[in-house]
Amino acid sequence: NETSALQTDLLAWFQANGRDLPWRRTRNPYYILVSETMLQQTQVDRVIPKYEAFLALFPTVEALASASTADVIRSWQGLGYNRRAVNLQRAAQAIVAAGFPADPAGFPNTPEGLRNLPGIGAYTSGAVACFAFERDVAFLDTNIRRVVRRLLVGPEDAPPATTEQTLIDYAQQLIPPGQGWAWNQAIMELGALICTAAKPQCWRCPLNQHCRAYAIWREANTQLDMWQ
Ligand code: ADE
Repeated sequence: NETSALQTDLLAWFQANGRDLPWRRTRNPYYILVSETMLQQTQVDRVIPKYEAFLALFPTVEALASASTADVIRSWQGLGYNRRAVNLQRAAQAIVAAGFPADPAGFPNTPEGLRNLPGIGAYTSGAVACFAFERDVAFLDTNIRRVVRRLLVGPEDAPPATTEQTLIDYAQQLIPPGQGWAWNQAIMELGALICTAAKPQCWRCPLNQHCRAYAIWREANTQLDMWQ
């Protein structure tokens, strides 16, 4: 399975343009679990101070597991969806009950194992398996879903309709073997910085020569030009 030009181009772009974010400097599964839970509902800029403050108060899985739930919810102020904070604490309690850190296996490192934790869904289990344990696993959030669909299917306002499973399969096929961590960070970053929902900046996208949506959009505009 050779690395394609598309893969090389996006990884090079990420290397040069990816933001230096606190959760990209760690592989600590607890830190990653906290950051990915916060990032599901809140913008990066607003998550950074919350993430730092939360980890200062609850620096380890054990600290979070044994904290008072009222304190955990209080530290979640400004992030919304308090139920996520409660679920995060329940996940920490399950991890501690499984023997972590005395037994590192107490922190599940596969998407399936993570999925069994309270409140952890498809996105978070994939993200933690990839960003903490560097597994080549695909998962979708709104950015990844949009980028993969534009890249391989076309503009989102045009058919065909695609199922979630189809997009996960595409996302999995795109991952350069052994580079799932960088690849998934890169594809998220492209969706955040260039391949945005409104007004994507295709002219400066590293993948425009590989992109189905861009080709279709350009073809449509060329047709219009002929009438001018
Ligand atoms: N949104 C969700 N996960 C993210 C990550 N790891 N980096 C940047 N934005 C994100």
